Amino acid sequence: MLNKSDIISKILSEKSRTPHSEKGSVYAPANIALCKYWGKRNEILNLPMTSSLSISLQEKGSHFAFEVVDTEDVLHLNEKIISAEDPFYQNLFSFIGLFRKSHSPRLHIRIHSTIPIAAGLASSASGFASVVKGLDALYGWHLEPWELSILARLGSGSACRSIWPGFVEWQKGIREDGMDSFGVPLDLTWPALRIGLLLVSCEKKNISSRKAMALTQENSPLYRAWPKQVTQDLDAIKIALANQDFRDLGEASERNALIMHKTMMAATPSIDYSTPQTHEYVQQIWQLRQEGLSIYFTQDAGPNLKLLFLENTEAEVVQAFPQIEIIQPF
Ligand code: PMV
Repeated sequence: MLNKSDIISKILSEKSRTPHSEKGSVYAPANIALCKYWGKRNEILNLPMTSSLSISLQEKGSHFAFEVVDTEDVLHLNEKIISAEDPFYQNLFSFIGLFRKSHSPRLHIRIHSTIPIAAGLASSASGFASVVKGLDALYGWHLEPWELSILARLGSGSACRSIWPGFVEWQKGIREDGMDSFGVPLDLTWPALRIGLLLVSCEKKNISSRKAMALTQENSPLYRAWPKQVTQDLDAIKIALANQDFRDLGEASERNALIMHKTMMAATPSIDYSTPQTHEYVQQIWQLRQEGLSIYFTQDAGPNLKLLFLENTEAEVVQAFPQIEIIQPF
């Protein structure tokens, strides 16, 4: 069975593992899946059961700055120093450790996340994508975006879509080594599209997406129908994007998220990321839609909702949800 280091060696082959720049900074946006990734065909390489499709969140994401130091690794997250015992520090440096030689110089890393960490808001996606872009700058690899996408996937599956702005399809690929499983940006924009972040809670989720995915795949009787559902929803979403048909886009995206959540609820033990507040917002969205407002939602591995609407309904959406944070992806 191939491991992460095998894939990294394949991509980097003879490329240098000695720093090329003393310092630098990069940025990667978070992304929200309109058609979800839920379930893996390979847990080590984060190879998905299905393709998926996302929209990147422009200025919401991770800024990653590095500086080569001759002491020891230091990490600042949102201007606060993170101790070497912290799981965040350990995850980050064990990922970086896959790329650097043990005797190579240490790093002072500053990550500034403009999106709450670990609340199902795609912070790990922008986080891992920014790390990979940062390493590319540090070592002067000049990798192609699709190669960066594969490396980011090794950190967290959805991170492979955070290499680009705009709409990105993660093509699942069929190869055992996953060299055909990476993000592909769609050549289209939708300037009137808006994403609203409706925060319910920014606390750390009680079950990681990794564990929840594995459990759903292992024993949810509904999981059998998921891959076929994704194929249908992905087609519907791509057609809606090509036609700029907002209703079709909203309906397919909302349906896809609802089915993902129902599928995980049917696992044993049941996985439920929603809180009573999430349900209340969902009811409110459905009520507004009945009253004629064209607004849809999607939800990831957390209680927060992401609303989909168009520029011309922004005022009504803000009136209904005054606390909403609006993102203009294009
Ligand atoms: O990349 P992960 O392991 O954090 O999983 C992401 C899963 C969802 O956000 C729920 C869906 C997706 O496609 O982003």
